[in-house]
Amino acid sequence: MNILVTGGGGQLGSELKALSPNTSEHRFYFPDRDELDITDPVKVNRFCRENPIEVMVNCAAYTAVDRAQSDAEAAFLVNREGPAILAACARDIGALLVHLSTDYVFDGQSSTPYREIDPPSPLGIYGRSKWEGEECIRKIAPSHLIIRTSWLYSVYGHNFVKTMLRLGAGKDEIRVVSDQVGAPTSAADLAEAILSIIARYDPECLYRETYHYANEGVCSWYDFAVAIMELAGLSSRVHPIGSDQYPQTAPRPHYSVMNTSLVVSDWGLEIPHWRSSLEVMLKKLLSLEDKGKSSDEREFCVKGKAVNVICKNVLK
Ligand SMILES: NC(=O)c1ccc[n+]([C@@H]2O[C@H](COP(=O)([O-])OP(=O)(O)OC[C@H]3O[C@@H](n4cnc5c(N)ncnc54)[C@H](OP(=O)(O)O)[C@@H]3O)[C@@H](O)[C@H]2O)c1
Repeated sequence: MNILVTGGGGQLGSELKALSPNTSEHRFYFPDRDELDITDPVKVNRFCRENPIEVMVNCAAYTAVDRAQSDAEAAFLVNREGPAILAACARDIGALLVHLSTDYVFDGQSSTPYREIDPPSPLGIYGRSKWEGEECIRKIAPSHLIIRTSWLYSVYGHNFVKTMLRLGAGKDEIRVVSDQVGAPTSAADLAEAILSIIARYDPECLYRETYHYANEGVCSWYDFAVAIMELAGLSSRVHPIGSDQYPQTAPRPHYSVMNTSLVVSDWGLEIPHWRSSLEVMLKKLLSLEDKGKSSDEREFCVKGKAVNVICKNVLK
């Protein structure tokens, strides 16, 4: 299978790239943003004419949730127009488009895990732009899978886990909101799930599905921060606060837990619990550091074992 991954430099794109050598039956293309800007139809069409793409995985997105509030034009360009351009190209070349979306399409008023059929009602520009991107794909791409995920983190890129490690290494006390509840998701697990779906993809069939994929379990950002400190052996005390004590530019849903049973039953996936995946990620971060990829020393431990962590590249 010839697979195009857009946004290959982001968290999820990088995890797919890291896994790609294990799947020799596929040929992957990971163009960076300069080589393939998804908002440029000429470049997208030329790329797909020049390369025999059968599956597109769109990991490119405008993900700065707060900045999107004052930069709506850019957010809609990347999160709505970009997917529409990819969808038209996928239609023209007969490819499957796998697109990533977000729990922020929901308003958080539910008290039970969101199902794929629940009506979206995004609170902010980012969520709205992602929802409109989904809708473009449903209208334009004859064969598509839309996968909504939540609270992504990875050894690559910037995310909450790395922010907490940085704060935990330098502060005795940290305040983290406890009234926003969801499911942290390892981008490495999601990348594996996407590859396992593609492995079972039948090009003779048309796909028109929306799925929810998040790690098992539920927690607040506060619970997540406490787990990060525990597993990393950091002694900073984490204090729960309300969202009103941590004002952010974009409103966030208070509850964005998603029901993942559909993707599990359709594709036979086993989804790990968020805490075990967090542990895996922290160990991977340490092993990357042990290989000497960075310089700025910090000390923390995973499961009680103190490790010198060199963190210029990874904990920045
Ligand atoms: N991060 C989360 O917590 C989260 C939660 C739920 C859902 N999601 C969704 O999951 C998907 C993957 O997220 P992620 O965390 O991996 O995102 P990410 O780390 O922010 O990566 C996004 C990538 O897209 C690239 N990009 C932006 N505009 C582009 C364009 N016009 N053309 C080509 N590439 C472009 C970015 O390049 P530059 O760095 O050069 O801008 C970056 O490499 C996204 O669809 C996101 O909406 C993320």
